[in-house]
Amino acid sequence: MIKKCLFPAAGYGTRFLPATKAMPKEMLPVMAKPLIQYGVEEAVEAGMDVMAIITGRGKRAIEDHFDISYELEHQIRGSSKEYLLQDIRRLIDKCIFTYTRQIEMKGLGDAIYKGRALIGNEPFAVLLADDLCTHNGNGVLSQMVDVYKKYKCSIVAVQEVPMEQVSKYGVIAGKEIDDGLYMVDTMVEKPEESEAPSNLAIIGRYILTPDIFELIELVEPGKGGEIQITDALMTQAKKGMVIAYKFKGRRFDCGSIEGFVEATNYFYELGKKKEML
Ligand code: G1P
Repeated sequence: MIKKCLFPAAGYGTRFLPATKAMPKEMLPVMAKPLIQYGVEEAVEAGMDVMAIITGRGKRAIEDHFDISYELEHQIRGSSKEYLLQDIRRLIDKCIFTYTRQIEMKGLGDAIYKGRALIGNEPFAVLLADDLCTHNGNGVLSQMVDVYKKYKCSIVAVQEVPMEQVSKYGVIAGKEIDDGLYMVDTMVEKPEESEAPSNLAIIGRYILTPDIFELIELVEPGKGGEIQITDALMTQAKKGMVIAYKFKGRRFDCGSIEGFVEATNYFYELGKKKEML
């Protein structure tokens, strides 16, 4: 039902300098897999097969990653290492990758707007690859597609965070209409602790209805002088058209060194456990 997933991937990744000086932050690996590949796998698991990637200058490695590398594949063919490329080959065979560039960094809302031509007039998912999510059962996007099927409006994934961290996120408030589901009536981008309507923080997973593009056109620059997706979503929320979903699973903030190390440790332990089975 939802076939396209948009990946805003034009950001500089300044928190990871100097690693990200010449390399996209989305290509940082947790174990041997780049962050964006985890994201694409999550989207595929949720039934999507068109990946719309919003890149920028210095991000060409992302396009090369989702392409064949003839020389390398020729080198390792028939060797014990061939299996290492199996997963990425499967993604390349299964998906269509489309790209466009965000020329200036004008915020997440602007990045999403730049994907308009790649998305067209259909509901779509948005995945921020530095929020790495994992769950034993269905992945977070897959869970959100189920919510979308029922409510047919925009969906944001939320998680409870300590109050002293709310200023890092878009924060929602609303009426709990079902277990872990909120009809959103307020959304604030990166509020001060004293102004936060709750401690329910939006994490990097959205399902958006296509009217969002026109709404983004109408929003004025908000927090940090940037075009915020939170502000465009607020227009939908006023009409009761945004649901916040407290997802099942774990999320690692791989945009921070701490979260990145946590994710690495988690996947390392998971890999060890699988080997023992
Ligand atoms: C963006 C959004 C914010 C959301 C966050 C999730 O912020 O603007 O509402 O909570 O992603 O990761 P950023 O982290 O890009 O500053």
